[in-house]
Amino acid sequence: MKKRLKHTHPGRLITFEGPEGAGKSTQLKLLAGYLEEKGFEVIATREPGGTPLAERLRAVIKAFEGEEKLHNTTELLLIEAARSQHVREVIRPALAAGKIVLCDRYFDSTTAYQGGARGFDAEAIDALNDLAIAECAPDLTLLFDLTPEAGFARTRTRTETQGEHDRFEEEKLEFHRQVRESYLTIAAREPERVRVVAADRPAQEIQTEVRKLVDELIR
Ligand SMILES: Nc1ncnc2c1ncn2[C@@H]1O[C@H](COP(=O)(O)OP(=O)(O)OP(=O)(O)O)[C@@H](O)[C@H]1O
Ligand SMILES: [Mg+2]
Repeated sequence: MKKRLKHTHPGRLITFEGPEGAGKSTQLKLLAGYLEEKGFEVIATREPGGTPLAERLRAVIKAFEGEEKLHNTTELLLIEAARSQHVREVIRPALAAGKIVLCDRYFDSTTAYQGGARGFDAEAIDALNDLAIAECAPDLTLLFDLTPEAGFARTRTRTETQGEHDRFEEEKLEFHRQVRESYLTIAAREPERVRVVAADRPAQEIQTEVRKLVDELIR
């Protein structure tokens, strides 16, 4: 996991990271409203996706249907292809125009999921991320930290009924433990860029902390 240089554009890039159900989209929306009210031009976007082509790649990544298997390496390259398109079409032009870009997931997701949890070589992931982001490293990354148990409890109330942990669920839990560990390692290596926000609190309380961190950046 390498440290990246700051970009030289007048705008600001803030990325939202963390596991499924951590509240990334909820917090992004609340922050966008806050910044717009302050008079900033805000672009709210997400990965994979954010452009028509990148959204088509997202659909393939999320719900590939067919006889053949979507291999992990193919998935990684599709994610990076979508990122490359998104950065060049949306993020870089917005930063050059002085806008504040809020992005729901960015390259730290790839480091944590494909690197940390799936075990792809960290240096290879760094190289692909660098190629995709065209020097548009985030000014601030908000890492919404939640234990896998708490995350599961949240998503389970959304979908299934409460049940005994089976073997599959234990495997899923282990995967998400690795994702979390990897995210926290990124935050420990880049404490200035990546701020850990405890996500097991009421949304408004979290938003108050988020606004404080963002105010420091845009002051
Ligand atoms: N602080 C919170 N406390 C409890 N529930 C929350 C909180 N924030 C969001 N939620 C709820 O948890 C669910 C997931 O929130 P949200 O969609 O914002 O998470 P996410 O990180 O964007 O998830 P995903 O990765 O799946 O997109 C939603 O039903 C949302 O209403
Ligand atoms: Mg979301």
